[in-house]
Amino acid sequence: MKKLLLTGATGGIGKAICQVLEDDYDITVIGRNKAKVETLCSEFKNISNFFLCDLGDQKQLNLLLEEISAKGAKFDILINNAGVTNDSLFLRMDKEKWDSVIQTNLNANFSLTNAISKTMIKNRWGRIVNITSIIAHTGNVGQANYSASKAGLVAMSKSVAQELARRNITVNCISPGFIETDMTSVLSDDQQKAILSKIPMGKIGTPLDVANCVKFLVSEQSNYITGQTIHINGGLAML
Ligand SMILES: NC(=O)c1ccc[n+]([C@@H]2O[C@H](COP(=O)([O-])OP(=O)(O)OC[C@H]3O[C@@H](n4cnc5c(N)ncnc54)[C@H](OP(=O)(O)O)[C@@H]3O)[C@@H](O)[C@H]2O)c1
Repeated sequence: MKKLLLTGATGGIGKAICQVLEDDYDITVIGRNKAKVETLCSEFKNISNFFLCDLGDQKQLNLLLEEISAKGAKFDILINNAGVTNDSLFLRMDKEKWDSVIQTNLNANFSLTNAISKTMIKNRWGRIVNITSIIAHTGNVGQANYSASKAGLVAMSKSVAQELARRNITVNCISPGFIETDMTSVLSDDQQKAILSKIPMGKIGTPLDVANCVKFLVSEQSNYITGQTIHINGGLAML
């Protein structure tokens, strides 16, 4: 059974990923909230292990990578799914807000990909899936930090995809539009209606819409797809 490392598993999309991959993969999760992670592990029998780490804290992340290495844990598949927003109009955005989002959504993914891909290179097989966002491509008011972090992740993925392609490792992004999770539940009813009115399919996406695409991208069936972004947004932006 292939070994898979997943971040952000306690969130809406992360749980759906655990659900669709159940039975087929040996899953290890990284989470920052022990109680949430333990509850998740009790819900999904295929989660064999977990590591606790706040990805927003580079020191914790460095310790985590040391722990993974010391335990000899090796992974065939990495899904960088954890993400945060910390919105503010650009002129009011302070460096702290900027850094907090860049650290979790971009720097942490660099560190994890850099460390975890080494085993994939040795094995000459691997799958890396990065969850980005429609905002990487369209921008959004109040989300200069978030859009930059996700656009950075798209660009990083293309470079890494080129470097690892000959080792039979694919690196792809999934760019969700408006998906019903805790991240979007903070939007007011008016904001949700305004977004909905612009979605050609007339409905909000579900975490399973994203998870099913992850399932395809980590499988053998996707073996000739690399450096790509798959957009899951009901037609909100046709990129
Ligand atoms: N929902 C959407 O409409 C949408 C659209 C585009 C892109 N996305 C992307 O999809 C991914 C999953 O988001 P979601 O919608 O499932 O949101 P969510 O329900 O809020 O889940 C976010 C996940 O990331 C984890 N996380 C956040 N900051 C972390 C940190 N510093 N250290 C460790 N873990 C951290 C959260 O852990 P806790 O449970 O401990 O908070 C949670 O598991 C994100 O990358 C997001 O940017 C979502």
